[in-house]
Amino acid sequence: MPTEGYELVRLANGTAAVHSLAHGEKMHPGLGPAAEAEALYVGQLKIRERLAVHDGEFVVWDVGLGAAANAMAVLRAARDFPCPLRLVSFDNTLEPLAFALEHADALGYLRGYEELVEAILNRGRVRFMDGRHEVSWEFLLGDFPAWCAQTLDCLSPDQRVGVHALACPGSGRLKPELQPVNAPHAILFDAFSPAKNPAMWTLPLFTNLFRLLRPERPCNLTTYSRSTMIRVTLLLAGFFVGRGIPTGLKEETTVAANKLELIDEPLDRRWLERARRSESAEPLHEAVYRRLPLALGSSNRLHEHRQFIA
Ligand SMILES: C[S@@+](CC[C@H](N)C(=O)[O-])C[C@H]1O[C@@H](n2cnc3c(N)ncnc32)[C@H](O)[C@@H]1O
Repeated sequence: MPTEGYELVRLANGTAAVHSLAHGEKMHPGLGPAAEAEALYVGQLKIRERLAVHDGEFVVWDVGLGAAANAMAVLRAARDFPCPLRLVSFDNTLEPLAFALEHADALGYLRGYEELVEAILNRGRVRFMDGRHEVSWEFLLGDFPAWCAQTLDCLSPDQRVGVHALACPGSGRLKPELQPVNAPHAILFDAFSPAKNPAMWTLPLFTNLFRLLRPERPCNLTTYSRSTMIRVTLLLAGFFVGRGIPTGLKEETTVAANKLELIDEPLDRRWLERARRSESAEPLHEAVYRRLPLALGSSNRLHEHRQFIA
């Protein structure tokens, strides 16, 4: 598998990280792959706290598998808990994963999981015992926004709140096949930035993603972006949205959920007023990056959001 599109870089704190030449962006540029994956994704999604009281299978969607730092952080955090884990990773390429495996020593965070990464690269799925529990890790290759739209299209309304199934667009070493995918309890949302990767940040995508959740299954999502535009997008898609922790280069990040109680610091009416005055708050309605103030219709819908109605 060609991996020329990536290079190893050293961050200011000395950690090695993966840089995508095509996007001109580093993965986990703040604290480095292991620390940022742990703080921003595992810690912020309260994966350990939730697993400690969870009954049955816990499902995590890892959107933007990339070089698998987030996936590894979830596997490491979950191995001390007995409930089974289903980790579903999405990406439109396996190249950064292959690159990470080639540079496993320098990156460090794949240590102990190299054979599983090899299995994902070759077969797209693997089942194993890890620590105290059983793990099923699957990879869906393809365009994530298209996958969400197609999945909704091919599900009847009652299936929408159950197990999702869709043909996985196969290529390379993975064959097309039907992939059963369960609705998530947690989503790690880690695309490249909206300016470089706008297709992954549109309102239609997050609306579809929200509709793929099971309403009675608490689910939280975290992302490194703290932009007003992305927070408005998540709110208009149906999520509750809150302030997230700082990480390295960012003084804040963002958490979202389908249940308000999963959010420690929900955005309030003062934030809403600032959003109304922002130069860049209107969601992307298509996969083209631009900055616009809130349109009147969006502003009205935001004010009616249940998060802001006391
Ligand atoms: C910032 S990197 C993810 C880093 C990764 N989470 C990790 O822990 O190493 C963003 C990833 O999103 C993927 N991506 C970008 N656009 C996509 C799309 N339309 N569909 C699926 N994946 C996409 C990229 O290929 C890239 O691997």
